[in-house]
Amino acid sequence: MLPVIIDTELCKRDELCVHECPLMVLTVEKKGQVPVVHPKKTNYCINCGHCMAICPTGAITLSAFEGQAAEPFSKEDLPDSAAVETLIKTRRSVRKFKKKNISADEVGELIHTAAYAPSGHSAQPVSWTVLDTPEKVLELGKVVVEWMEEMVKQKNPLAEKLFLAGLVNTWKKGKDVICRDAPAVAVAWAPKLGITPQADTVIATNTLEIAAHAKGYGTCWAGYVVLAAAYSQKVLDYLGVPEGHMAHGALFLGHPAVRYRNIPPRHKSVAEEQDGKFIFRARPNTH
Ligand SMILES: Cc1cc2nc3c(=O)[nH]c(=O)nc-3n(C[C@H](O)[C@H](O)[C@H](O)COP(=O)(O)O)c2cc1C
Ligand code: SF4
Repeated sequence: MLPVIIDTELCKRDELCVHECPLMVLTVEKKGQVPVVHPKKTNYCINCGHCMAICPTGAITLSAFEGQAAEPFSKEDLPDSAAVETLIKTRRSVRKFKKKNISADEVGELIHTAAYAPSGHSAQPVSWTVLDTPEKVLELGKVVVEWMEEMVKQKNPLAEKLFLAGLVNTWKKGKDVICRDAPAVAVAWAPKLGITPQADTVIATNTLEIAAHAKGYGTCWAGYVVLAAAYSQKVLDYLGVPEGHMAHGALFLGHPAVRYRNIPPRHKSVAEEQDGKFIFRARPNTH
């Protein structure tokens, strides 16, 4: 099946799609004709949807997304830049949650939004595992702490570097330092082999985090879960991550039990000109 279907009645022959396609999949055989998939490039299409996005008459559909028409939008549908900046700056890592669950369907809506994150070659390789109750989240914490104990026992240098012994002790005293008693967790994973699976997974996780903040949920990266997943098959098994795949992003989330009133400062780097280039250097994060 051809990757792109063009409705010949709706097509205005403006060739916008031909010029937009990053892989030059589309071509016109003769000026004024409806574009077609280049016969030698039928396998080149990466399903990025740019041809659909640019078409003013909605003449294009992708066979990989059968039945999904393009969704038109106008400039007025976009939030203004100040609103977006405020959304980004007011996101905080939330570590205190109300005793109210988030359903898998609610997290699923955020996952659908995160599917619009960019991915290398538009591979869209990210899958998610969602834990939707505090009990399931606590069980994940247990498996992570088991891995930490093992690292401490083995005197693995990472254990000392990351104060794992202290974390294990705190957990044993009943404090959930892994997922902070959150009612839900979303873990993003992808095939180990691919174009840019690790970057894609991290970007998707961050996109979900911003979408969650916009809806009033609180999230925080579950860094210890990501770390443990890289070492512990038990953690991957608990999360249902199949062989040949790796988890690179994890968030614990819920309804925030804290209210932030101020945006804390961040370093504003000043551009330094260097051989005609501008370096916005990160400052050492010291006192
Ligand atoms: C890690 C990463 C690397 C990418 N590298 C390139 C690149 O080298 N050249 C390019 O044209 N697009 C690149 N892209 C953009 C993707 O092709 C693009 O995100 C994808 O086709 C989906 O299109 P969209 O971002 O417009 O939704 C990259 C995206 C990611 C996340
Ligand atoms: S989906 Fe992307 S790669 Fe495929 S034809 Fe359209 S613009 Fe080109």
